[in-house]
Amino acid sequence: MVYQSDSQLSIFPISTSLDGGGSLTIAGHSLRQLAGVYGTPLYAYDGETVRHQVQVLKTAFSHSYRGEALIAYASKAYLSLGIARKLSALGIGVDVVSLGEIKFAQKGGFDGGSVHLHGNNKSEAELQAALDWDIQAIVVDNLDELSLLEELAARSGKKARIWLRITPDLEVNTHPHIETSHSGSKFGLHISNGQAAEAIRRARSSRWLRLTGLHMHLGSQLFDPEPYRLAIQKLYALAAEQQFIPEELSPGGGWGVRYTTDDPCDDSQPWVDAISRTVHDECDSRGWPVPRLVIEPGRHLVARAGVAIYRVGTQKDTPDGTHIVALDGGMADNPRVALYNSQYTALVVDRPLASDKLKSRVVGKFCESGDVLIPEIDLPHVSRSDFLAIPVAGAYQLSMSSNYNFATRPCVLWLEPGRVEVLQEREHPDQCQWWGGCA
Ligand SMILES: Cc1ncc(COP(=O)(O)O)c(C=O)c1O
Repeated sequence: MVYQSDSQLSIFPISTSLDGGGSLTIAGHSLRQLAGVYGTPLYAYDGETVRHQVQVLKTAFSHSYRGEALIAYASKAYLSLGIARKLSALGIGVDVVSLGEIKFAQKGGFDGGSVHLHGNNKSEAELQAALDWDIQAIVVDNLDELSLLEELAARSGKKARIWLRITPDLEVNTHPHIETSHSGSKFGLHISNGQAAEAIRRARSSRWLRLTGLHMHLGSQLFDPEPYRLAIQKLYALAAEQQFIPEELSPGGGWGVRYTTDDPCDDSQPWVDAISRTVHDECDSRGWPVPRLVIEPGRHLVARAGVAIYRVGTQKDTPDGTHIVALDGGMADNPRVALYNSQYTALVVDRPLASDKLKSRVVGKFCESGDVLIPEIDLPHVSRSDFLAIPVAGAYQLSMSSNYNFATRPCVLWLEPGRVEVLQEREHPDQCQWWGGCA
């Protein structure tokens, strides 16, 4: 069945459709049947949506940018061995921030030359692993780290390839917890206090460091390209003042996605155009060659591809007139509502187009009043036999999930027409070595 682009279904994965009985399917798989086979909460990724998101960005940069532009997936959005293999096979690179992510990137088939390491407090082990793997760049966050890395590189007898993470000291419009470019940010070398300039000088005078580029990341869930333009201009002014011509430039990730149909359009073309034009202008005005661009999207590549499926449990009405519907997951698999006040929507798997509506609050099963998935939604009448599907669940949910209340992490699937792959088995309470061992 074809659906309207302005309907709730437009924020579900691309391959979402309704079967003959009007129930939700993804890549031709009935969500009710998947929930029956794999249990709930269940997360499902649509392969077609991930490939589409990667391709759209690649094509946009190939049309709009004069030089080479690489996409490096920000793996903090969601990483498992399975998805690492899928993404490395698409010919993109990866941004990692920990020893664990480095190992998964290695095992997942990424080439070291397309990997870069972030982090504001990298351990020696993390820096050493990056040196040993000879990755594209260690992104140095601060002057302390510059000294530590120089020491490690000298000890290893190996020159470290680095970028500097520059903080442009400007504000962006997003939740404060995911804003990273303001003058109080814990991330990066700030321009306004001179630390960015000092880092460039020190890196260039070191025999153990090779400075190849500059990096910035302004924040996440951004829909306005203007801060990217301003920040790139600031990076080039800094580079020019230091007479440093970057071979590589990473303007970070951060482009937003629609979590509900009230969110702004998330077309990435304005973002791509702002980055490309600004870099062209800055380089042309100085007669510099354009750098290799490395874009680091996380959410934009995988968020829409993911759907979370829950079973409806208890319901109640509170004295203040709120109708509460409790699901079998919640803040343990999706802490984003509690952390960022994120907005979500949901559809009943078997009746996504139902017209009967009851103002409801959708909550989880965990022992926190903040364990709310959707504070207010017009939901059809549901019962215990119903499943709810919450779309745009592919980024910063599973990767930020916890075992709160000894919850077990959900099963994760990758869906292709005619094929279901398990990316992550459901954790089981009997496998609780990590809780102190109870087998
Ligand atoms: C350095 C860096 N790059 C890229 C990203 C990815 O951001 P997004 O998923 O919003 O694209 C993040 C997210 O925190 C980040 O910290």
